[in-house]
Amino acid sequence: MPGPKPQPVQHLADYRPYPFTLSGTHLDVTLAPRGTIVRARLELVPGALPVDLVLDGGRGLDLRALTIDGHAPDPAHIRRDDETLTIAAAALPSAPFALETEVAIDPQDNTAFEGLYLSGGIFCTQCEAEGFRHITFYPDRPDVMTTFRVIIRSDMPVLLSNGNPVRQEPGLAEWHDPWPKPAYLFALVAGDLVAVSDRFTTRSGRDVALNVWVRPGDQDRAGFAMESLIKSMRWDEDVYGREYDLDVFNIVAVDDFNMGAMENKGLNIFNSKLVLASPDTATDTDYERIEAVIAHEYFHNWTGNRITCRDWFQLCLKEGLTVFRDQQFTSDLRSAAVKRIEDVQTLRARQFREDQGPLAHPPRPDRYEEINNFYTATVYEKGAEVIGMLKRLVGDEGYARALDLYFDRHDGDAATIEDWLLVFEDATGRDLSQFKRWYTDAGTPMLTMEEAWQDGTLTLTFAQSTPPTPGQPAKPARVIPIAVGLIGPNGDEVAPTRVLEMTEAQQSFAFEGLGARPVASVLRGFSAPVMLRRQMDDATRAFLLAHDTDPFARWEAGRELALSALTDLSQGRDAGADYITAIGALAADDAADPAFRALCLTLPGEEEIATRLASLGVTPDPDAIHAARDDLARRIAVAHQDLLARLFDDMAVTGPYSPDAQAAAGRSLRIAALGLLGRIDGGDRAEVLFGIAGNMTERMAALAVLLRLGRGEAALRILHDEFGDNRLVMDKWFSVQVMAAPPDQAVAVARRLAGRKDFDWKNPNRFRALLGGLAANHAGFHAADGSGYAFTADWLMRMDAANPQIAARMSTAFETWPRYDATRRGHAQAALEQIGILEGLSRNTREMISRMIA
Ligand code: PHE
Ligand code: ZN
Repeated sequence: MPGPKPQPVQHLADYRPYPFTLSGTHLDVTLAPRGTIVRARLELVPGALPVDLVLDGGRGLDLRALTIDGHAPDPAHIRRDDETLTIAAAALPSAPFALETEVAIDPQDNTAFEGLYLSGGIFCTQCEAEGFRHITFYPDRPDVMTTFRVIIRSDMPVLLSNGNPVRQEPGLAEWHDPWPKPAYLFALVAGDLVAVSDRFTTRSGRDVALNVWVRPGDQDRAGFAMESLIKSMRWDEDVYGREYDLDVFNIVAVDDFNMGAMENKGLNIFNSKLVLASPDTATDTDYERIEAVIAHEYFHNWTGNRITCRDWFQLCLKEGLTVFRDQQFTSDLRSAAVKRIEDVQTLRARQFREDQGPLAHPPRPDRYEEINNFYTATVYEKGAEVIGMLKRLVGDEGYARALDLYFDRHDGDAATIEDWLLVFEDATGRDLSQFKRWYTDAGTPMLTMEEAWQDGTLTLTFAQSTPPTPGQPAKPARVIPIAVGLIGPNGDEVAPTRVLEMTEAQQSFAFEGLGARPVASVLRGFSAPVMLRRQMDDATRAFLLAHDTDPFARWEAGRELALSALTDLSQGRDAGADYITAIGALAADDAADPAFRALCLTLPGEEEIATRLASLGVTPDPDAIHAARDDLARRIAVAHQDLLARLFDDMAVTGPYSPDAQAAAGRSLRIAALGLLGRIDGGDRAEVLFGIAGNMTERMAALAVLLRLGRGEAALRILHDEFGDNRLVMDKWFSVQVMAAPPDQAVAVARRLAGRKDFDWKNPNRFRALLGGLAANHAGFHAADGSGYAFTADWLMRMDAANPQIAARMSTAFETWPRYDATRRGHAQAALEQIGILEGLSRNTREMISRMIA
């Protein structure tokens, strides 16, 4: 079939500095839904040699005027194409000059939500990665940094931009951002907004006004976001010594947003689902996520804004580090053990999955067609893991010294991964040339371990290998920090955690002077993002689940038990007895953290089971996996009926709802018990709980149980009556129906919901609720008749015309298609090919499709 057309590829090796210096940007924006006028004045300093001035900006910009130092150049010196405007060197002064342009743009037509757009009557912008070029002609690249002065003209009551306010009068506001920044950090907001406000005094005495701006009526759901912001500001001072650097910090919530949130300097813009929360509308998971993302965006002020990226290949420089920092923040505020387990689960579900398929790429890619396709789990989550490994290798003190040096040396810079690694080398004296492979090589290393015991010495022998990934057939050995502890036969720890540094393809490490043969607890804290394979019988796993002192390793032992049972069951082999016994003992341990017990009681998802099978070279059968998981859950429920019923009752929280970690932990155990009990009580407990619960956490959990049993109709109606006009709750209402539908009904449910009037598909959250919900229903999406693929493909094609970023990102639902059976592969490939030949397909989706069917 004719594959998608080739398009221009960006290569890391082609990087060249911009030939002009930009010493100031002035914007004057007159807002109107149609015909917004943007006047820009760029103060440019030419380099030594005369060169053409190339600015980014395409056909969407209606150029009304252009002058150089006040004079219009000869039109023969100006060229435009679909993406740029070029002024010939001959028309440019050799001394510093001012380029002024006036363009008209149409925010109302902007359904891609990139550049300036309207969301529910609010004007807002999204410029990362390359959105500023849809606002005005500009050198839209992160290494061109300057100060901004911005005038906004509009009747809207609230007019915001980056930096500090310098003038506010009716119909006009002027902002000045003293910190040089690249255009991707520019933001502008205008709307009928109200603020929840507070103040923060920095360690050195700066008084900062804090505002969380929302639509009138939403103020009572913005308090938690504000609390989270204040905690983040304090934490970054305490832990990293980083202070805020402006007089105001504004956060704005909008309903239409392609991503979670955006770190624009002094003016963070958020998807409203990551700001608005009240106990009756948001779950514990929502609260935790809001806290983490508020922190993430705030932390970008230093890791991203004060120090930015030289080019987009370096994206993980800011994202990996900022994710790592927000993970540290959450572990400090909540349970470190639980947070680590959750992060590993996310990494495996999203990043290992990405690594296993045709979209695998290194944390620092060296080529791309559309940068928006690289805001991935590999860049973010694996980028954070790589920093965690660095910290483990150089120690906490070495890490602290390196970070101080990084902020000192690179403040104000647009930096690279090389800069970052050099800081660690200079601060610690360590050679990181081999470590750098973690940034440049794709794929999840497979680590196998063998044990030998002789005369009081335990020898662990590891071998590493990384499967081929697109463009990288063979990979040299990496540095792998392997944290190991030893547990004696009586359950006591006989050797505390020690980090082994593996640098060879195969390497042995000896533990000497041991009395009796211990059990090795390996990869503690998930010390490296690898897949560990070791020969271990279920009894030894159960022993570790009972005795390991490292909470991650302990949970992992249970996980391994569950996965081995599930992979066996899904291939028709009887299994699971040891797991059921061991998990019961752990769940009954009232001394253990309820959140930890909940995590242990929650079975791996079907997707994770499929990923495990594929890594073992077995073709996953989605229906068999679903049946195996159902079967194991039901057997756990039968075996531990009384215990689960007791936990469900004991963990009932009385008194007012609080989203804090401890209260949420109790609810998570309660919900885990409820889910299992639902397998045998016909959903009676869930029905009662749905009716009486005062919080969304328990109601959603109960609803999911009811839907799985096909008796969710009444609950759905009640929820709709209560919250039909609350978009965020209705997003949940859409997604849970598809996610919890029995697999053979999932596509039909999705199709019915897509036909509803309130399926406002152009809203990214609503679209993701439905299509993402289907993709999360593993056996439903991968229905053997191809209906899940076809349905998804239809919607991707429709979405692509409106919002290419969302279509391209959602296309990753297909990223694992090559691992399934021939029938499914045939259907998936046909669906992808159908998208690939669509007339006018965006660059975003075209790149994704061509990588997936390469
Ligand atoms: N930089 C944002 C973050 O990580 C994510 C983002 C990327 C938002 C692109 C919008 C567009 O917090
Ligand atoms: Zn980020």
